Parts: sequence; structure tokens; C-alpha cells
Amino acid sequence: MSQNASLPPHVALSRRTLLAGAALGLAAAPLRQAAAAPETEMTVTEALRQRRSTRRFSDQPVEPALVAELLWAAFGVNRPETGLHTAPSWHGAADSMIHVASADGVSVYEPERDTTRQRHPGDIRQSLSPQPFVATAPICLLHISDLRRLSAAEDESQRPLYAQIDAAIVAQNVYLFAASRGLGTCLVGGMDRPGITAALGLEAHEYVAFVQPVGWPAQG
Ligand SMILES: Cc1cc2nc3c(=O)[nH]c(=O)nc-3n(C[C@H](O)[C@H](O)[C@H](O)COP(=O)(O)O)c2cc1C
Repeated sequence: MSQNASLPPHVALSRRTLLAGAALGLAAAPLRQAAAAPETEMTVTEALRQRRSTRRFSDQPVEPALVAELLWAAFGVNRPETGLHTAPSWHGAADSMIHVASADGVSVYEPERDTTRQRHPGDIRQSLSPQPFVATAPICLLHISDLRRLSAAEDESQRPLYAQIDAAIVAQNVYLFAASRGLGTCLVGGMDRPGITAALGLEAHEYVAFVQPVGWPAQG
């Protein structure tokens, strides 16, 4: 299966930039297509009906503007006055650092600015999981927790648990957004944590909670 580049190099995934640029006709064709909002937004109830795990993806890339929307849905700031997020977190720790791995490298989502910055130039999707379907998705989200933000935990050994709970809630946001737009996704606990840590050069406080491939479901 070919690994189509879903994201041009160094394109920050920002709803503000991508959607505004597309609306002004400044962006490339794929961005204009993605910026066309669905005529009727799916209800949460209908998205819950549609929610499922998808493990077969087509080669079609996911447009950057749609990835930007997905990242906001996952863990964007929904109350700018407080800086709080679309997903709850343990004691408001906001420890989730969503990384986006694609053919063009790995970028990390910055909720405060609602954009991404590049962290790694290479395609590390093959290093994420022993489950082959993971690397067939055009993008893979890495749910990485900043364990320093969970330092209020009385018992340090509890931090990975809270990290996984927080990440799982973010992942459900991804599931529901994906369902609402016809995208497929699957939460993956069976990842190669040492492989990811080595590939990205993660620091001790950066804990990989889950991997979550996202793409258009394969037909048939
Ligand atoms: C914590 C967690 C870890 C999971 N890990 C994997 C995994 O490693 N590989 C996989 O294919 N699916 C994984 N899944 C997805 C489940 O297999 C899936 O949700 C379940 O089969 C029910 O299917 P549904 O999501 O379509 O309802 C995981 C789900 C959860 C909640």
C-alpha cells in the first residue's frame, strides 16, 4: 500500500490559518475542499451511533484543514477565558500532548495557539506498533502525556494511570469527530513504547499512553 503524504512539509496544522486561507482562496485545492464545512453538522447522538474502530484505511490523504479541526476537537481550548479544553483532565492537569505522525514527520499540537510545530522530520509510523495496520493510516496520533503536569499525584506510580485516563478521553473525542466526518480511527494500546521513545528521543517525563491511527476507511 502506498503511503501518500497527507501533510505538506512544514505546514502548521492551524484551523485559523488553514481555514481562513482556504476561505480567501489562498490555499491549495485540497485545503479548499476540506474547508467546505458539512452542510449539516452531525449530532452527537448520531456520531455515537456511527462510532466504531476502523483498521483498514484507504490511501487517500487526510486534508491538513481537516486534521486541524480534528486536533481542536481532540484537545483544543474551548473556553479561551480560562484556557480549558474540549476534554477533561485529572485535576485540570492538561497533560495531553498530541503528536501527529505522517509521511512528512512528526508535529506536536499546541492547544494554546491551536496550531502544530514540527518535532521530528522523519516518518516514524513503522516504529509505532507491532500491529501492521497502524502504519497503513496516513496519520497516526500519538497520545503522549507530560507526566510533570501530574506531579500532584500522591503516589508517583499512579501518574501513568492518570495519563492513560486523560488520553483515553481525548481519544474518544477523536472517535466522535472521526465518526461525524466519515473518518476511521482505532485506539491502540498495543504500541511499541520503547520504539516510539527512541524514534522521537522522548524525555523521561514524556509518557506514551496510546497510539491512534486516523484515515479514510477502505471501501469494501
Ligand atoms: C484501552 C484500549 C486499548 C485498545 N488497544 C487496541 C489495540 O492494541 N489494537 C486494536 O486493534 N484495537 C485496540 N482497541 C480497540 C478495541 O479493540 C475496540 O474498541 C473493541 O474491539 C470494540 O470495537 P469498537 O471500538 O468498534 O466498538 C483498544 C481499545 C481500548 C479502549
